[in-house]
Amino acid sequence: MATAGRGEWSGKLGFILAAAGSAIGLGNIWRFPYTAGENGGGAFVLVYLFFVLVIGIPVVLAELSIGRFAKLNPVGALKKIAPGTKWSWLGGLGVLTGFGILAFYSVVAGWTLSYLWGALTGHASDVTSAEETAAVFNHLIGGSIMPLVLTAIFMALTIFIVRGGVSGGIERATKILMPTLLVVLIIMAIRSMTLDGGSEGIAYLFKPDFSKLSVGVILAALGQALFSLSLGMGAMITYGSYFPDRENLPQAGIIVAFFDTAIAFLAGLIIFPALFSVGVDPNGGPGLVFVILPSIFAQLPAGNLFAVAFYFLLAIAALTSTISLLEVVVSYFVDEKQWDRKKAALWIGLACFGMAVPSALSQGAVGGLTDFLGTGISFLDLQNIIWGNYSLSFGALMLCIFVGWKWGIPAALGSLESSGHRLAVGGFWSILVRYVCPVAVGAILVYIIITQQYF
Ligand code: PFF
Repeated sequence: MATAGRGEWSGKLGFILAAAGSAIGLGNIWRFPYTAGENGGGAFVLVYLFFVLVIGIPVVLAELSIGRFAKLNPVGALKKIAPGTKWSWLGGLGVLTGFGILAFYSVVAGWTLSYLWGALTGHASDVTSAEETAAVFNHLIGGSIMPLVLTAIFMALTIFIVRGGVSGGIERATKILMPTLLVVLIIMAIRSMTLDGGSEGIAYLFKPDFSKLSVGVILAALGQALFSLSLGMGAMITYGSYFPDRENLPQAGIIVAFFDTAIAFLAGLIIFPALFSVGVDPNGGPGLVFVILPSIFAQLPAGNLFAVAFYFLLAIAALTSTISLLEVVVSYFVDEKQWDRKKAALWIGLACFGMAVPSALSQGAVGGLTDFLGTGISFLDLQNIIWGNYSLSFGALMLCIFVGWKWGIPAALGSLESSGHRLAVGGFWSILVRYVCPVAVGAILVYIIITQQYF
């Protein structure tokens, strides 16, 4: 369990960009809009925002406090803080969840490569109506060879970067790519909001209709907040473990959470106005972004150029997230099992590709996977719900109990503030971590188990 020579970010900005790179990804631009659309819009968005503030930010700080203190992977960190207990199992669940998320995330990330290719070769503006773009999308994901090839390419890119260690390359790349992503998204949001009928989309996103609230909507909002902030599975423990001792960690964590939420809202402001302007149902499911955006590009002057920039940045945003997912699993094998980093990245990446195969084939290619075990949803959607909603929620719940009740707030706060920078709302944080998060998340999970409303 060597902690020496693990490397660290060059400074606060390096951490903010790398952690924002983990947080900002398909979760913001793909998952947030379609989940909001499936769950009625405004009411979901409001609950989501509430969860980011009341659960997301406190859990970001809880995970970072563990990482900074232990300077280890999630399993090693919990073992170090609570030796001789079973708490390291929670780290183990996090590592497993990272593997589970990567196995479906890389499939969707693969789709972005096909769209990038289409834009680069000038085909992005060939189809204009939403029916045509939907047909293109269904043809792509319903195939059997292409989804597998694209997933393999994306997994290979992830393995390649994680093999070499992330801090230098990722840090350097994210410093340019993240600000560029922000600018491209802002321009697209302005274009979308000024489309005819666009204001209806803004109203859909921000005017809550509380009759749409249900336990399912609340769990979806909680899962989305945790997924988007990369929480509940130790990614922030791992990234926090590379944080330089002298810098202000609480502030950096809060900035990452705001940045992540801003990007999700921007994505919403691109998708929903466009959707209403072309009269497409917001409840379109996971294909939403891939069907609607191409028809906006077709209407933009220099739309193909925008399409290239957008899909390139989307693929990069996804890559900086897949790297953090694989990094959690690799750091466990490197720290705890003394595997060579290169070997770990390769074998874990290959195994994960194997797990990704059923998800890649579940969008029409294989009937038994498309409606998996009679659940009415595809294998990919099921993985998304199991790992992305349930496991992250359970993980966040247990991490709060660990920090609030086992390790203790004074020690955790001491770790967060070890550079001498105070967390001004430390007392409030303590209440959220000890009481509010466990009760709220626990109540949602228990209610779902009792009522058996799993999806
Ligand atoms: N936060 C990423 C996104 O929104 O796309 C997904 C993710 C990355 C979840 C890393 C969890 C994680 F540990």
